[in-house]
Amino acid sequence: MLFRATNLTCEKTMKDHLVIFDTTLRDGEQSPGASMTKEEKIRIAKQLEKLRVDVIEAGFPAASIGDFESVQAVASVIKDSTVCGLARAVENDIRRAGEAIKPANSGRIHTFIATSPIHMEKKLRMSPDEVVERAVWAVKMARQYTDNVEFSPEDAGRSDADFLCRVIEAVIAAGATTINIPDTVGYNVPEQFGALFKDLLTRVPNSDKAIFSAHCHNDLGLAVANSLAAVQNGARQVECTINGLGERAGNTALEEVVMAIKTRQDVFSVDTRINTQEIVPASRLVANITGFAVQPNKAIVGANAFAHESGIHQDGVLKHRETYEIMRAQDVGWNDNKMVLGKHSGRNAFKTRLLELGVEFETEQELNDAFVRFKELADRKHEIYDEDLQSLVTDN
Ligand code: KIV
Ligand code: ZN
Repeated sequence: MLFRATNLTCEKTMKDHLVIFDTTLRDGEQSPGASMTKEEKIRIAKQLEKLRVDVIEAGFPAASIGDFESVQAVASVIKDSTVCGLARAVENDIRRAGEAIKPANSGRIHTFIATSPIHMEKKLRMSPDEVVERAVWAVKMARQYTDNVEFSPEDAGRSDADFLCRVIEAVIAAGATTINIPDTVGYNVPEQFGALFKDLLTRVPNSDKAIFSAHCHNDLGLAVANSLAAVQNGARQVECTINGLGERAGNTALEEVVMAIKTRQDVFSVDTRINTQEIVPASRLVANITGFAVQPNKAIVGANAFAHESGIHQDGVLKHRETYEIMRAQDVGWNDNKMVLGKHSGRNAFKTRLLELGVEFETEQELNDAFVRFKELADRKHEIYDEDLQSLVTDN
């Protein structure tokens, strides 16, 4: 499916639709050690469909027979999301991508060629004129398989803006419907990346014929910030991965972009169609399959993202959740927020947890004595479990 920034709006809010393009199965898989089998890719793709991502980039069909079969299998089972295959701007890649996406209800070919001086000179050994010519040829060839063609000027983040305008104008004229701007090496900072979108959207004469997309890498820890800056300057597709999986320091984390937009509707003029309650299940599935554990303090999906240990915070949250929470844990797929009992915890959380366990103190003095014993234990133990609490009150 192809969403146009100008005519597709979310009914209730009348905001532009932001296309969520998930590349966990392609760029995410390029993370060293994250290779997935066909069956694993199908399981993840089904979860991404439940999450309601708009586009699933399922792989790079020309990379191997296994990857071709994975993209083909994902294209056969997925009904509600567009399935995309990556291709360099070379004949065999585009043909393989076209064949792999054939079974899809809605299929896309994503073709790319580098446009930065260093890539053109040192890697491709092609002149800028040759790159423009090849890009146009690749888009035209991809259009023979599908009318949904995405083009990426690789390393756009380090490319000359005038040259980018020239390439983009030419590939849109050749039939590209999505123009993806990759910050391939994660070099940009938000103000600069946002300004690049503004510049391209203003200067490319036929820019209204395509959706502009941001594809950021996290080498400086700025992938999400750069993607959001792009959205604020006209991008209407974000390319991202579950848990921010991806080459080197990873890609833009889907869960962070989606929740930033949902939580800060006052700031963004776009909305997504993501079923956010499927975020945590998706994160767990990807972590289990790839073996890449999620750090506890990772935004949205880390084990501590909705956990409170300090007494001041616990007391605040018990009185009114929004004192220390800007999102509901349930909205992203957690059962609930968590009160972790440890040495920073206060009397209110201690008493509340014991009440939940069916223990009620008859006098304030009993509560105070038990609380002193709890603090002594917490100094020795990192985390206090329910069993610890029970023995704390029954053994005395
Ligand atoms: O980072 C990158 O440049 C890519 C392209 C293939 C879009 O992943
Ligand atoms: Zn990438």
